[in-house]
Parts: sequence; C-alpha cells; structure tokens
Amino acid sequence: MSDEWIKIFESDFYVREMIKVWDEGEKWANWIDEVVNKYKLDKKVLDVPCGIGRVSYFLAKKGYDVTGIDISEKMINIAKSNIQNGKFIVGDMRRLNEIIGNEKYDLVINIYNSLGYYSEEDDLKILESIRLSTKKLAVINLDNRDYIIYNKPSEYYTFIPPYLVYSKVEFEPETSRLKVYRKYYMDNKEVGEINYSQRLYSIHEVLTLLKKAGLKAIEVVSGYSWKRFSIMDPEMTIIATPA
Ligand SMILES: C[S@@+](CC[C@H](N)C(=O)[O-])C[C@H]1O[C@@H](n2cnc3c(N)ncnc32)[C@H](O)[C@@H]1O
Repeated sequence: MSDEWIKIFESDFYVREMIKVWDEGEKWANWIDEVVNKYKLDKKVLDVPCGIGRVSYFLAKKGYDVTGIDISEKMINIAKSNIQNGKFIVGDMRRLNEIIGNEKYDLVINIYNSLGYYSEEDDLKILESIRLSTKKLAVINLDNRDYIIYNKPSEYYTFIPPYLVYSKVEFEPETSRLKVYRKYYMDNKEVGEINYSQRLYSIHEVLTLLKKAGLKAIEVVSGYSWKRFSIMDPEMTIIATPA
C-alpha cells in the first residue's frame, strides 16, 4: 500500500492538484499567523507534510522560519525552488526524529487532510511523532467524515489544469475508508488513472487518537476560521498541545 501511495505522491497528477490549491496557502498562512499571535508563539514552524510548500511559502514571506518535510522528492524539489529562505527535507512523517532528531518547534502544522493514507496505527505514529517535535502547539486539519459521506457526490468531473479529471468515490463503512477511482484526460484522450483509498475520521475518533498520541485538543474550529467546528462543516481543524 505504501509503495502505491508514494507512486501517487510522485506523480504529475498529484502535483497538479496541489498547484490548483496554491492560492489557498495564503489563507492558511494568514490564519496560522493569527494562531501564533493568539498563543504568543515564536515564528518557527514545522510544516509536515509540506507538499509543494504552498503554506510555507506564504509563512516565509511573513518572516517565519519554516522547515518542511515530505515523503515525495518531487514535492520537496518544487518547495525548494519556490522558497529560498526555508529548509525542505525528504522524509517520513511517521519517523520525524530520524530527520530532525530532538529538535522542537513552537508550532507544527499538518494541513489538508494529510492523515488516513496508511493504517490507523500509522496515523498514531504520525501524531506521536508530531507530539515529540512540538514545543507548544500542533495544528491538524482534516476532512470531516460525517460531512463527506452525506455530501460528496459519488461521481464528478473537475478541471485540474491541464487535466480533465473524472472521479468516482465510494465510502466503505466497515473500514471508514473512501475509495477513489480517478481517470485523467487531455485533448479528449485518457492519459492515466489513480486509484486509492483514504481513511476518513469523525471528530471523536481524531480526539481519541490525539489523546493516545499524548496530545490534548484545546480548540476545534472549521477550516482556517475561528468558527467553532460543528458536525456539518466540511473540515475540522484541531489546535492541540502536548498533554
Ligand atoms: C494533501 S497533501 C498536503 C500537503 C500540504 N500540507 C498542503 O496543504 O499543501 C499530502 C502530502 O502528504 C505527503 N505524504 C504522504 N505520506 C507521507 C509520509 N509518510 N511522510 C511525509 N509526507 C507524506 C504527500 O507526499 C503529499 O505531499
């Protein structure tokens, strides 16, 4: 399973999805800056996984000292080319100590539904690893399973330049995984496909996992806003401290 995911994360299809949401990185950076001011943190952030660096880029522009880690070499190379005044490293977020040793950051961010790729045990390892790297706060942003299962259409098309993408999704209640089948088209010709499944979480499950990992939630909000999270919000963002 892991190898299949790495192939996906190294693919042009996935990179294009990240480029499509690049501008949203500025909204995230503005909100993270508010978190840093609210909780009086140093402007030193570990962005994991950082992808192409869309959040780190805007944080670095605000004078933040940013370190980004991602398993995809392709993503890290793009992040490095976008952000000169940051540190970007290829590595596995399940084992952050192998990459950064005992270094701790005032703020560690895990944004854009970046859990659930592997098993629940792996998600626990990621959260434990985040806790060990966190001096003050960790921010985890995930899709809300309860919203997704009732609101996501089972088939849809999107344009992810330069590809037209057909997606078919199916929620598997026994595993709580969303199975996704995607076909990519260019000039009316099919040019590739990606199939994967990702574990989705409800808020109470994430809170249990965080507790097991030694993290304590202090606020749960909707996306990059200060609205208190409610069950029908598409995304949940948890602000947590080491317990
Ligand atoms: C949905 S993207 C989010 C990236 C970034 N947080 C953002 O908001 O743009 C998920 C990222 O997780 C990375 N990833 C997946 N498994 C990983 C692992 N075990 N260690 C580090 N990065 C991983 C992928 O390469 C991909 O770039």
